[in-house]
Amino acid sequence: MEKFAGTIAIVTGGSAGIGKALIKRLLDKSVDLTVVGLARRPIEEFASFSNFRGFQCDVSKADQVQAVISSIQREFPGKSVQLLVNNAGHGKPLPLLDHSSLNDSCTIKVDSLEDVSSVYASQLNTNVLGLSLMTRAVSKLMDHQKCGNIININSMSGQRVVPTPNSHMYSATKFAVTALTEGTRQELRQINSSIRANQISPGYVDTDFFQAFSMEEGYQEKMKEIVKTAITSEDIVNSIMLCVEAQPGCQIGDIQMRPTVQKL
Ligand SMILES: NC(=O)c1ccc[n+]([C@@H]2O[C@H](COP(=O)([O-])OP(=O)(O)OC[C@H]3O[C@@H](n4cnc5c(N)ncnc54)[C@H](OP(=O)(O)O)[C@@H]3O)[C@@H](O)[C@H]2O)c1
Repeated sequence: MEKFAGTIAIVTGGSAGIGKALIKRLLDKSVDLTVVGLARRPIEEFASFSNFRGFQCDVSKADQVQAVISSIQREFPGKSVQLLVNNAGHGKPLPLLDHSSLNDSCTIKVDSLEDVSSVYASQLNTNVLGLSLMTRAVSKLMDHQKCGNIININSMSGQRVVPTPNSHMYSATKFAVTALTEGTRQELRQINSSIRANQISPGYVDTDFFQAFSMEEGYQEKMKEIVKTAITSEDIVNSIMLCVEAQPGCQIGDIQMRPTVQKL
C-alpha cells in the first residue's frame, strides 16, 4: 500500500457488507491513506479513525455526488484520489414480462407501469448511473501519472443470465457494469493514464444484499440456507487488494468468484 500513501481512497456503499469490510481493511492497512466512505445511511463505525471521512450520498443523484466531490476538494486540498471502488448496488425482484407464472412469493407487487418503472429505475440508477457518475467525477480528482485503480464490484449476474426471472433486470444492470469496466479501461489507455480498471464478479456473498432484495419470509428462509455456504465480504476484499497491490505494470481484468458449491 506504500504507493497509495498520502492519497485518498473512495468506497461507495460503505455502510454495510463488502464496502464496510473494505473500509475496515484499508484503515487497518494504512494510516497514510485517507479513506472516504459513501452511503445513503451514515457510516458511524469508523469515527475513531482520524483518516476516515464518511459522507451520506445517494450515488444515483448527480447533485449529491457533486457535493461530495466539492467537499473532498475543499477538505483535502492537494491530495489526489488514487483508488475508487464502485461497490454501492442492489437488486429488486421483478421479472421482465408481466405473466403470473413468472412471479413467485417475493416478486414485488406492482399496480401500474409507473410502479414497474420505479423498481427498474432504482436498480439502473444505482448500479449503472451511480457507478458512471462516480467514475466520471472521481477521474478528475486522480493523478493519472501515478498508479491507481477504479474497481467496479460487478456480479456473476453480469457474466451469465440465470433462469430466475426476478433477477433479470439486476442481471442487465450488471452486464452494463461489464461494458463500463472495459470502456473505462479503454478510455484510461487513450488518455495515457497509469490508473487500472478492474472488476470483481462474485456469486453469493453473505451480506445484507438479500435483505435489501426482499424481506419476504419464504425468500429469507431460502437465503438463510444459501448463505451458509456463501463466500464472505473478506473474500471479496482479498480480491480487491490483489488488484490494488499488483505491481503498477499489472492490470487485473475480471475476477470471477463463487462459493465452491454454487452450481450456476
Ligand atoms: N451479496 C452478494 O451475494 C453479491 C453478489 C454479487 C455482487 N454483489 C454486489 O456487491 C455490491 C455490494 O453489495 P453487498 O453484498 O455488500 O450488499 P449490502 O450489504 O446490501 O450493501 C450494499 C451497500 O450499497 C449501499 N447503497 C445501495 N444503494 C445506494 C445508493 N443509491 N447510493 C449509495 N449507496 C448505496 C448500501 O448503503 P445504504 O443503504 O446506506 O445506501 C450498502 O452500504 C453490490 O454492488 C452488489 O450488487 C453482491
